Amino acid sequence: MHFDIVTCLPKLIESPFSDSILKRAQKKGLVTVNIIDLRAYSTDKHKSIDDYAFGGGAGMVMMIEPIDRCLADLKSKRKYDDIIYMSPDGQRLTQSLANELSLKKNLVLLCGHYKGVDERVRQHLITREISIGDYVLSGGELAAAVLADAVIRLVPGVLSDETSALSDSFQDNLIAPPVYTRPASYKGWEVPPVLISGHQAKIDEWRHEQSVERTQKRRPDLLSNV
Ligand code: ADE
Repeated sequence: MHFDIVTCLPKLIESPFSDSILKRAQKKGLVTVNIIDLRAYSTDKHKSIDDYAFGGGAGMVMMIEPIDRCLADLKSKRKYDDIIYMSPDGQRLTQSLANELSLKKNLVLLCGHYKGVDERVRQHLITREISIGDYVLSGGELAAAVLADAVIRLVPGVLSDETSALSDSFQDNLIAPPVYTRPASYKGWEVPPVLISGHQAKIDEWRHEQSVERTQKRRPDLLSNV
């Protein structure tokens, strides 16, 4: 799987890909992530990528020209499944959308900044818009990192134990069950005995019950989606 992340602030998005699971996924050759500095596609000597909004008002707008040049360059090298603009008014990112995206081969994530991109970019140059939640970030970079993380960990082979992605919260509209590790007793706080019983069928049953109970308590809305 390949991601091209287009941004005017590349530093803002480099670090999540240089550590832990996302780094390992790239080292194993399962995923490639290319961060592209939009300023490289600017046409003037000041490397501008934004300008004042027509009609006035506070905030700068990202210009269509550098974005078009950048996307045309990318498209000349690869065929993309989707060109995604990260935006608070896009389709909400959910586990099921992450699952869907994890089956794609090549994705572009375009990060907006300032007041966002010229509307013509949204009308003509991208294929979909995704939001990570109903709040406004100062740019699309952190949202792109969230999306890429949620998707990359689902790519087969990225997690060492493949079943662990499947047992995540939300994967089956249930919240994950509680987990414990050593010591079995700490300050008189005990681990549920079934987990140290060695009886796998009972453990599986207990975990499922806990998931259902937690979901009923914390996120009953998920159960109505089943
Ligand atoms: N850019 C700014 N806010 C955002 C959000 N909530 N989701 C995706 N992109 C964004």
